[in-house]
Amino acid sequence: MDFQEETTTFSNRLPVRFINTIEEIAGTHPGQRRAHARGICAKGVFTPSGRTIGMTFAAHLQQEPCEAVIRFSNSAPDPATSDLMSPVKGMAVEFQRPDRHGVKPVIVAATIPVFVTRTPESFHEMMIAARDLAKQGHSFKERINGLLHLFPHAGKALTLLDDIKPPASFVSIPYYSVHAFYFVDESGTKRAVKYEWVPDAEAHMPLIKAAVSSKDYLEDELRERLNSSPAGFTLKLTLGEEGDSVDDCSVSWPSERETIEAGHLSIQQLIEEPDGLLMDPTATGEGIEVTPDPILLFRHDAYAESYRRRQEGC
Ligand code: HEM
Repeated sequence: MDFQEETTTFSNRLPVRFINTIEEIAGTHPGQRRAHARGICAKGVFTPSGRTIGMTFAAHLQQEPCEAVIRFSNSAPDPATSDLMSPVKGMAVEFQRPDRHGVKPVIVAATIPVFVTRTPESFHEMMIAARDLAKQGHSFKERINGLLHLFPHAGKALTLLDDIKPPASFVSIPYYSVHAFYFVDESGTKRAVKYEWVPDAEAHMPLIKAAVSSKDYLEDELRERLNSSPAGFTLKLTLGEEGDSVDDCSVSWPSERETIEAGHLSIQQLIEEPDGLLMDPTATGEGIEVTPDPILLFRHDAYAESYRRRQEGC
């Protein structure tokens, strides 16, 4: 393969085209993440409950507490988007206990429990359709209805998106991993689980109040709150059963699935974003494995491409 052919192949890869499409829609914001661009970092301590011992040999889910870096974010690719106009929020946690290969386990979660599509290809098509509906001057509601018509499979996630209420705080809403992961025990037996971060106290803000709050009211609120006391989340696991989908993050598991509390995260103080922070959802560390979910696997390359561009100051 000559250089020309190799370059063409690289730029045609979907993760690269995907990031190009995001830039085409939302502009290029040098040095920023191509999604979830504006965020705020904190440090905290995760204390495992001990209930996952025997389900996974992951070091951060045994008995000892472990430090964590947390990044809360707005999902919008443009960092100037206000908190109100970026309804989906993100919470990414990097556990500061590397496995034997130096991998620090990461959980990347967001405030909707299911994703809009099953594959990266259909998500890319949906982004292009959303861009075209916006160009035609349709309102948010009309765009959602247009997408529902074009992508009926995305009904659940799009309806949830339409119903999202503004949060009172980054730490007062639940966050979901969306994907399933495998917990692996010492004998190699795997069990599918999904994660949810459940806030110590859930609270929303009336829309009218959010509309007159500052555009980054959630960062101000978190700064003020952590000055007086820590905030916390319980890590809840839903245990998958035979037949539950592990490769379609646009569908939920049955609501009667058993859940267990894996531990508690206490968030203590804000910090500057650590250099080189990359919250890769496929960085599970030993004792946890990725499922064959095409969106999850795709995110590894898409995040790497976004990271490469922002590290180069593009
Ligand atoms: C095909 C699907 C997806 C694509 C293409 C995508 C793309 C991206 C990109 C490019 C970034 C910035 C990465 C960086 O520069 O470090 C990002 C960040 C993020 N994404 Fe996604 N994403 C997808 C699915 C999801 C899903 C399903 C979730 C929900 C769990 C999610 C939650 C987040 C969060 C919370 C961040 C911020 C991470 C941080 O704080 O560093 N994304 N995404």
